[in-house]
Amino acid sequence: MTALDTTKPWQDLFAHAGRIGQMHLRDEFKRDPQRAQRFTFEAAGLLADLSKNRITDETLKLLCDLARARGVEDWRDRMFKGERINTTENRSVLHIALRNCEDRPIIVEGANVMDGVDAVLKKMMTFCHQIRSGDWQGYTGRPITDIVNIGIGGSDLGPVMITEALKPYAHKRLSTHFISNVDGTHAAEVLKPLDPATTLFIIASKTFTTQETIANAVTARDWFLAKAPNKQAVAKHFVALSTNTKAVAEFGIDTENMFEFWDWVGGRYSLWSAIGLSIALSIGFEDFENLLEGAFEMDEHFRLTPLERNLPVLLALVGVWNANIQGCTAHAVLPYDQYLHRLPAYLQQLDMESNGKSVTREGTACAWQTGPIIFGEPGTNGQHSFHQLIHQGTRKISCDFILPAISHNPLGDHHLMLMANALAQAQALMLGKTEDEVRAELKPGEESLVPHKQFSGNRPTTTVAMKKLTPATLGALIAMYEHKVFVQGVIWGLNSFDQWGVELGKQLAKPILAELKAGKPGDAQDASTKAMMERLLAWRKEG
Ligand code: F6P
Repeated sequence: MTALDTTKPWQDLFAHAGRIGQMHLRDEFKRDPQRAQRFTFEAAGLLADLSKNRITDETLKLLCDLARARGVEDWRDRMFKGERINTTENRSVLHIALRNCEDRPIIVEGANVMDGVDAVLKKMMTFCHQIRSGDWQGYTGRPITDIVNIGIGGSDLGPVMITEALKPYAHKRLSTHFISNVDGTHAAEVLKPLDPATTLFIIASKTFTTQETIANAVTARDWFLAKAPNKQAVAKHFVALSTNTKAVAEFGIDTENMFEFWDWVGGRYSLWSAIGLSIALSIGFEDFENLLEGAFEMDEHFRLTPLERNLPVLLALVGVWNANIQGCTAHAVLPYDQYLHRLPAYLQQLDMESNGKSVTREGTACAWQTGPIIFGEPGTNGQHSFHQLIHQGTRKISCDFILPAISHNPLGDHHLMLMANALAQAQALMLGKTEDEVRAELKPGEESLVPHKQFSGNRPTTTVAMKKLTPATLGALIAMYEHKVFVQGVIWGLNSFDQWGVELGKQLAKPILAELKAGKPGDAQDASTKAMMERLLAWRKEG
């Protein structure tokens, strides 16, 4: 594919940016009272207001020209058809099949993948009913009260984020816990209050070879067997979610208790698969289906809507405009909903593991910026922390505000205060505060404060609003971000579905671990690593 920076639409966008120059959003809203309406788009219960980005009709037109020139529609259609668009791993990319609620056949190597998807969903449904009804009993005959998902990355972040987000829908008897970090503290603290007789462990790993997950699974099994009457009890307390039947069996989990998925489900796109079992157990299978349906509605919107009104496409394009052409150095995800407190962490993996690359699909170096730095916290907490830098720092940072209109916890005026703060932050970032406005508020003798109290404004934000955070709107929200990341990858010429960058550290950790166990750094270690290993080992010896 042609290098992005040599394409005409790319160059046209830079020329256009030069023409709009210092255009200030404050003036644009004055000039065009319909601006908010013109740049607001809706799909699948979500509304995205793009009007507080430094865009004009021409910007969107040029961005859509760019998307067409980069083949966004073609790549999208190839993904939905099941073509092997993950070229470095020679795999299809079919998380959309996991929520293909109309059962449209998707044929890969002559077989309809929907048959397998439906069979696993059925198995998950039966299991959910058994656990939630209390029919599934532990080794003392008592129902399960605690579910511990052991996994990391995509086998953890999606399930944690969604179970936290949908807590109002959670089963009253069941508490859901997550162990991801190989730091023994994580397992120790999670296991401390639990009773093995009423605990179900879900070992979630696509490959079933991930060091952290297997170490935590072994620790959990040892903890369990220290109390359980015999090894047979494992069958009632351990299930596996994986693509690797052999490794699951070798670990000692009956493959009857394994929920399968497939290599065409990427780790960070897997919450819709068997990896979502902890979600389904917590919120119930019907609400898990509502989550899938919300995502399906967004998929259909993405698949069928012209680029000019296509929400994930527009978010992606405005993101490219902000990052590559307007010079934003990071992107903040700011959910104004405490239930979404793990959304920034989830989106960090989705976005940064997908598009944190510096070579194109063809292996040539990118001469343009690719995936942004993603960070965030729920509002209003972030306001009392890093928002200062977003308002007045030297770096430009784009923001997504995510805002439901109705709270699950209508306490006094709390939700109105929350909404007021979200709206005020977006307003402040857009309007800023001029020198004259600052002067008008100063008391005599405060002249020196003028530069400190000024805000440039004109900082780009998008507000994604919804009526209420429900399984369906959350499904749509996540699917929207998945497709946004995919479209950006296509624009930048990347394969968004591999993650070779995580491999080197994994490889190097193996000899280091062996040497730490032996109590002596190997001669092959570099001087810096060796010195640190010696110091750490010495401290451990001292005790
Ligand atoms: O290390 C990166 C990664 O491969 C992620 O992409 C993945 O989500 C995570 O590890 C966990 O992998 P697995 O599910 O195979 O244990």
